Amino acid sequence: MNARRSYNGCRLEFQRVKVVAFKIGLLGLGTVGTGTAEILLSPENRHPLLQELEIHRVGVRDISRSRSLQLPPNVLTTDDLEAIVTDPEIDIVVELIGGLEPARSLILKAIANGKHVVTANKAVIARYGSEIFDAANEKGIYVMLEAAVGGGIPVIQTLKQSLGQNRIQTVTGIVNGTTNYILTRMQTEGADFDEVLEDAQKLGFAEADPTADVDGLDAADKIAILASLAFGGLIKLDDVYCEGIKQVSAADIDYADKLGFVIKLLAIARDNTFSNADRTGGESEQLSLRVHPTLVPKTHPLASVNGVYNAILVEGEPIGQLMLYGRGAGAGPTASAVVSDIMNIAAILKTETIPIPHPLLSCTHQHYCKIAPIEELVTRFYARFLTRDTPGVIGMLGTCFGDRKVSLESVVQTGIHGDLAEIVVVTHDVREGNFQQAIEEIRQMESIDKVASILRVL
Ligand code: HSE
Repeated sequence: MNARRSYNGCRLEFQRVKVVAFKIGLLGLGTVGTGTAEILLSPENRHPLLQELEIHRVGVRDISRSRSLQLPPNVLTTDDLEAIVTDPEIDIVVELIGGLEPARSLILKAIANGKHVVTANKAVIARYGSEIFDAANEKGIYVMLEAAVGGGIPVIQTLKQSLGQNRIQTVTGIVNGTTNYILTRMQTEGADFDEVLEDAQKLGFAEADPTADVDGLDAADKIAILASLAFGGLIKLDDVYCEGIKQVSAADIDYADKLGFVIKLLAIARDNTFSNADRTGGESEQLSLRVHPTLVPKTHPLASVNGVYNAILVEGEPIGQLMLYGRGAGAGPTASAVVSDIMNIAAILKTETIPIPHPLLSCTHQHYCKIAPIEELVTRFYARFLTRDTPGVIGMLGTCFGDRKVSLESVVQTGIHGDLAEIVVVTHDVREGNFQQAIEEIRQMESIDKVASILRVL
């Protein structure tokens, strides 16, 4: 018998009979797990493929905990997570428990047992992606990770499928909502980092242990994953240069504002073969990969991405600039990404008879990308100095920078702190190694009290 349903405003006609039901084993029933179950349990007015997906078993750490979500009586809940990844009835394991272990082992065991895997676990993929994808390819298994970066933003699928015909030059992202929330509030309230962090923790916008977010480690995991997809190679996480936002002060945000910038934690992956390395003599290796607070011109598309929102700007040839914007975390957006992966796998399972790696959905990279050391980076810098208020200080700074081929775009002396002058410089594009050498010399100068801050400029 045929039935009619509405989806995207279209009247769809389909067979009422469930031809294939794909059985899902859900590991984790926290925020994202609950959001995922809610979508799967309410397929009305979503894509008809959802009708063919069934939650078979749910694995949780603590089975006695009371939960808001009412699972149907036929869904078995267990704290034996291994029983889910080895269950012969399950087709797709959805790993949403987070952390490195037992998540990594469970993913590998699921693959070994012939289950396709969907995960939101950026930490596991950034560290063990090579091991996991090797195992998956050997078994003809899909491991999908849309929810690992950018929450509900479909950036993984965009890089894997929609942009594969482009030569990607840069991927620049605001990929951590916690730090973007903190920096946005510092900007709008003129407040310092510690004050905003404490309040963000009280309001639930920052974790009790915020280290992974504020030190840039979460963003480093994410840019390693994006770079691997954009540039078609494996990435060693240790190769990602990483600085967090703890050292960003209200004073720097204020100076940046006056100079026409906002400060954002950016994760940047760039193919240096597209940059003008000749002019500066830097960036001889293939990629530069970095996470650090950055002065972003107010006119740049990423400058207006505020609060917990994420955005990823991709630049490629021939596409030019493309920016994806949305919620980078939270139950609904992240669950949306998880279920899109489940649907992709289900669609393949419905149409494929031989389990060969789908060329656009699997990860088959074999080689490691060559990453340039940070000293070779070519970028602009912002630096703030506290100096004795004596004649010739600005001249000495200028000479020292000039000796290291660091060309200055602007020098401003604005404030006086007691008997110290505050001098802010912005450079032209320079080689990082040269800039840092100049800074080391400047630190030794008698008339310099302190190098108060150094930030890179987009
Ligand atoms: N801690 C992350 C953030 C959550 O703040 O963006 C999503 O990965």
